Amino acid sequence: MKNLLKLMDLSEKEIVEILNTADQLKFEKKNGIPHRLLEGKTLGLIFAKSSTRTRVSFEVGMFDLGGMSLFLSSRDLQIGRGEIVQDTARVLSRYLDGIMIRTFDQKEVEALAEFGTIPIINGLTDYCHPCQVLADLMTIREYKGNFKGRKLCYVGDGNNMTNSLIVGGIKLGMEVSVACPEGYEPDAEIMKWAAESGRFSCSPDVMEMAKGSDVLYTDVWASMGQEAEAEQRKRVFKEYQINDKVLEVSKSDAMVLHCLPAHREEEITSKVFEAHSREIFDEAENRLHAQKAVLVKCLL
Ligand code: CP
Ligand code: NVA
Repeated sequence: MKNLLKLMDLSEKEIVEILNTADQLKFEKKNGIPHRLLEGKTLGLIFAKSSTRTRVSFEVGMFDLGGMSLFLSSRDLQIGRGEIVQDTARVLSRYLDGIMIRTFDQKEVEALAEFGTIPIINGLTDYCHPCQVLADLMTIREYKGNFKGRKLCYVGDGNNMTNSLIVGGIKLGMEVSVACPEGYEPDAEIMKWAAESGRFSCSPDVMEMAKGSDVLYTDVWASMGQEAEAEQRKRVFKEYQINDKVLEVSKSDAMVLHCLPAHREEEITSKVFEAHSREIFDEAENRLHAQKAVLVKCLL
């Protein structure tokens, strides 16, 4: 695997291989077995947006694998003063063994991959968040044991998380439903692709979409970059919350996931969040293991 730009580029087999590697690396980490597979390798971490989980798990992940990482805020890079991404890609390719980038425009990530000669990993764009969804799938498999026939329901904004969850869920054989207000649907091309599987639905009706779910998932109503719309979004998304009523129509053993950061009493009630905190923080931990698996696949 050369890059991780979006999940659509990966086959089911490649995704499962990443999950298997992540499970193995998690086992080794828990048992103190070293795995310095990327000894001497360097990874640049370009951030144009904030991060807790992605930054820390990539930095710790590179350390665990025997390599090193460089945190590169785009505010401090010349990219923040207008140096074009095509030149940045060609320069950084001369120094580094790989780049993880978190930015706004998916095209910037694609341009880094086109002009650079080293692996590029997408650490979130407005379009998708593949690293997060690999950790989510790893967590679903840990709790449920399999994917085929399982129903994942996403409640909320049709955003970067939704786009990647649809692609990952459908590729692994799950049924995926999305409950979102009209006008806030996920990417139209992704929905068209997903619909061809016969296992996808999207509607403004939360209860209808959540019915019989094995996994309930939500994310913030206003993503990074949408701060100015936050108040208006609070009104639009008022009914798009994971709460006791939504859990009642789901399977009795349904799990609840959230990519975090969470806004309690907005997209999820505190009560549901705390009742499902074990799986939510296992999911956050799995970012580390899943990302190490991606690094091994791309950089080794
Ligand atoms: N879920 C996630 O990507 O978290 P951060 O924004 O903290 O990296
Ligand atoms: N949709 C959120 C995800 C954060 C991990 C955002 O883009 O801000």
